[in-house]
Amino acid sequence: MSETSEGTVIITGCASGIGRAMTTELLASGYSVFGIDKNESGALSEFGDQSNFRFKKIDLADVDKLSSEFGDLSKGIEGPIKALVSNAGIGKMGFLEQLSIADLKLVMDTNFLSHAILTKCLLPRLKKQETVSDIVYTGSEAALKGARQGSIYCASKFALRGFSQALRDECGKSGVRVTLLNPGAVRTPFFEDLHFEPGAQPENAIEARDVAQALLMVLQARFGTVFEEINMSPLTHVWQGRKL
Ligand SMILES: NC(=O)c1ccc[n+]([C@@H]2O[C@H](COP(=O)([O-])OP(=O)(O)OC[C@H]3O[C@@H](n4cnc5c(N)ncnc54)[C@H](OP(=O)(O)O)[C@@H]3O)[C@@H](O)[C@H]2O)c1
Repeated sequence: MSETSEGTVIITGCASGIGRAMTTELLASGYSVFGIDKNESGALSEFGDQSNFRFKKIDLADVDKLSSEFGDLSKGIEGPIKALVSNAGIGKMGFLEQLSIADLKLVMDTNFLSHAILTKCLLPRLKKQETVSDIVYTGSEAALKGARQGSIYCASKFALRGFSQALRDECGKSGVRVTLLNPGAVRTPFFEDLHFEPGAQPENAIEARDVAQALLMVLQARFGTVFEEINMSPLTHVWQGRKL
């Protein structure tokens, strides 16, 4: 891997949707990217031929193995780590009584606990670095307001928001900035397993590349400035049903 002058960005969920658009923008902007996803073929078919892209297949929901898998990965990265972009997540929507206990656990493990564990593993290294670094989480508008059929998804994103606020307070003096991106509906494969999706018009959904551009703005902010949270919405909120 050739380390670029911009440093390495570790990103989860790089194979699809928002993470894929972020990876595309990061590579184009000169960062080295270490991608993590459970969808190995998706990640490698998109980025496998890029010299400044490396990949490790990790199931982030397998939280008991995360410390050792992620620890090994970060030991293999030489030079400064510019950012951890902890983005991967899943949606399990429905009235609470329609969700299984396994669904509840899967959502909390994937959307909250895995982010906390990856951060805990990497934080000592980021704090020791001489250059400013960023931890960026993909939250959601569901981190800001609860809505029906989103009980566990909203809970996982509220947890991530509280975690990121506390962490920001803990890390600022060590040169580690913490940001939460809160998009509304983004047109991605996220909705493939759900019974609804954003309306078909361009103004009914954010595009994944819009979120990627917000990420670049966060990473490239002047040393002393932190974007704490960025809330993004489609111009008009329209949802439509979809057949599974
Ligand atoms: N799309 C939206 O409207 C929207 C709005 C607000 C926030 N978000 C958040 O944005 C983030 C990215 O979502 P997206 O819309 O880009 O969804 P996406 O297109 O489904 O991409 C998510 C990626 O994460 C991977 N992933 C899921 N669970 C994983 C696990 N246990 N281990 C490793 N990788 C895993 C997925 O792999 P597989 O394809 O194999 O499942 C996929 O490659 C999520 O945190 C989501 O909550 C999305």
